[in-house]
Amino acid sequence: MSAADTADSPVATPEQLAVHADDPRYGFGIDVGGSGVKGGIVDLTTGTLVGDRFKIKTPKPASPDAVAATVAQIVAHFHWTGRVGVTLPAVVVDGVVRTAANIDKAWIGTDPYALLGTYFTASGLTVLNDADAAGLAEAKYGGNADDVDGVVIMLTLGTGIGSAILFSGGLLPNAELGHVQVGKSIAEAQASARAKEDNDWSYEQWARHLSRVLQEYEKLFSPKLFILGGGISRKAHKWIPLLTNSTPTVATSESACCAVARKISTNGSARPSLRPDSTLSSRRSRSGMSLRPTSAEANTASSWLPERNAAKASSPTVSRTST
Ligand code: BGC
Repeated sequence: MSAADTADSPVATPEQLAVHADDPRYGFGIDVGGSGVKGGIVDLTTGTLVGDRFKIKTPKPASPDAVAATVAQIVAHFHWTGRVGVTLPAVVVDGVVRTAANIDKAWIGTDPYALLGTYFTASGLTVLNDADAAGLAEAKYGGNADDVDGVVIMLTLGTGIGSAILFSGGLLPNAELGHVQVGKSIAEAQASARAKEDNDWSYEQWARHLSRVLQEYEKLFSPKLFILGGGISRKAHKWIPLLTNSTPTVATSESACCAVARKISTNGSARPSLRPDSTLSSRRSRSGMSLRPTSAEANTASSWLPERNAAKASSPTVSRTST
């Protein structure tokens, strides 16, 4: 398969790992991104990937059916039949996709549960915004927000800017801070990793734009901490020290694989660890997949948050404190 690749050194074959599908300690998660759709098995007790992740290029156009078929291909690669979590770069409210900033506009108004249920079988399914998943995973496994008495804002800096607002162990879902107007354009147009790449900016140039965006968020939310993730956070030592906003700002130490693991782990563990899939919905799709929970369950993020796990999947790579 030319468009697909695996990352990391093999630990076990997907077939061998499939035995985990019946074990509640494991989940399977898929992150639909602007350039790639990535999936893997996650140990929900640690938030880490088990074995390799598998990545397929995002189809173009990234229409609902094309993406769903790609997701199904990744699930099939692992012979996975257990619970699946899918993260989308979109607002998902009451089980309906409401926005599509970096995926095909045809997603707007779709029911991702019904759609995915026609492409593969799983014992449970959770679909949520990618940054919300990252924020929830950060809260559970990251350790950065521990003991912060106030608002913590996690941002994912990639094709767009994803955002998760955390407070008292809960999440304000679907906060689209990347679309906040900052000066003449929206935040993600000037401070995403893609903006840096598209404009061929140095870290210094990009950090000026990012600082301005963070300062705007400071005005709006008075956060106590920013946690910045996305692939570019691997080079955090090059740009965190250049930021001029006043709130303490740390980068996640996530690698691409850990980013997937974090998202996956939250998808797979948060609600099911609190309630068995069977209690989430009485409806089942034709494929046997249990369908979405009620809107209250899906959008009251505090009810998703699992108990804090002592295991830490990551720690900040660099931190900067205000003067
Ligand atoms: C979307 C968000 C998403 C973020 C990161 C933004 O353009 O509007 O929903 O979380 O990109 O993928």
